[in-house]
Order: sequence, then C-alpha cells, then structure tokens
Amino acid sequence: MFISFEGIDGSGKGTQVQLFTDYLRKKGVDFIYVREPGGTPFGEQIRNILLVDRTLTAKAELLLFLASRAQLVETIIKPALAQGKLVVADRFADSSVAYQGFARGLGVNIVKELNNFVTDGLKPNLTFYIDIPVESALSRKKQLDRIEEEGKEFFRKVRKAYLDLIEEEPDRFVLVNGEADELTIHNFIVETFERRKKQNAI
Ligand code: TYD
Repeated sequence: MFISFEGIDGSGKGTQVQLFTDYLRKKGVDFIYVREPGGTPFGEQIRNILLVDRTLTAKAELLLFLASRAQLVETIIKPALAQGKLVVADRFADSSVAYQGFARGLGVNIVKELNNFVTDGLKPNLTFYIDIPVESALSRKKQLDRIEEEGKEFFRKVRKAYLDLIEEEPDRFVLVNGEADELTIHNFIVETFERRKKQNAI
C-alpha cells in the first residue's frame, strides 16, 4: 500500500500528512513516512541544493528531483512495500509532472516517461490532492523557499496540471477541499483511507 499527498505550496498538505501519520501511529499501523525531495541521506543533500540554488536550470532541477526519487524508490519504498508496510509519501512523481513538466514547461509527457524510468513504473495506489486556489495558498506562506518565490501564474499552472492528472486517473486521485478546516479535511482523508482499505482497493 502506497499513499501519496500532493498539492501546491501552501495548500496545507504538510499539516495533513502530519495529522494522517499521527493517526496511523495511534492505530498501530506499520508504516513508513517519506518526503520528496529527500527521504534518503543522498536525497536530503539534493533537497538542500534544490531549495536554495538560484543558478539551477529547469532541466538540471528536474534531473535532481528524479535522482532523489530513484534513490528513494529503490532503497526505501520498494523494500518497505515488499515487507508489507504502508508507505506514506509527502509528494511523489506527480509533483515533477505538475511543477517541472507543466509549470516550467519541460513537457508533461517526457516527465511522465522519466518518472516511469526512475520508479520502474511504481505508482501510489491512492493519492490525496489537497486543492486550494493560488491566492489562498500564497497568503498562508510567510517565508518562501526558492521554488515558492515563483509568481502566481506559475502556481496556477501547477494547480491546473494536478487537476488534469486527476481527470486522467480518477481512481487513484482523491480531490480534497483544502479550504475546509483542518480537522474536517483530516477526517475526510481518514474516512477515505479506511473505506478504500475495506474495499480492498489498496
Ligand atoms: P517542500 O519544502 O517540501 O514544500 P512542500 O511543503 O510544499 O512540500 O519543498 C518542495 C518543493 O519542491 C515544492 O515547492 C515543490 C517542489 N517540487 C518540485 O518542483 N518537483 C518535484 O518533483 C518535487 C518532489 C517537489
């Protein structure tokens, strides 16, 4: 079972991942939590570069995200799934499609292909996409990292790319209203997770 969380910066995704993993811990579920970029020692070094280096070109940036993902999939995610653990990922391949493929204009199809290459076709069974209008998202962020300093237009594109992905894969994605209050969102996520588990869909 592999669950990912996606959303534009400032969508409240981080809070929801935290609440969800707290819930799993309380329930005694055997799970691991990973974040992207990062999640491995190598990946965390890449993360430091990605979040601060202003000289990165779009292609160099994409390839660093992919390198981090390749390492994470092979050394952490696959072994955990093989042991029957639940994997919870704060961002995964869809982020690269939305941010680099569409918003940065590198091409959605090429990024999907590269994702496929680095993950060996591994996809989450369930992806919670926390949806929020760009204005609300940006107004929540106080300190912006390099990527977050992009303008509103950039994040409009990121959001559009996610919404397109949801249309393409409606069974994998669950659209979550990120403007509801924290607890309402959390309860919705937990109910959806429990229902899917019961249906044996994941
Ligand atoms: P992070 O601090 O983890 O942000 P968040 O809390 O929003 O997840 O920073 C990750 C940043 O990297 C975020 O702006 C999204 C971006 N990103 C990409 O552009 N492509 C990717 O493939 C991934 C995984 C993240």
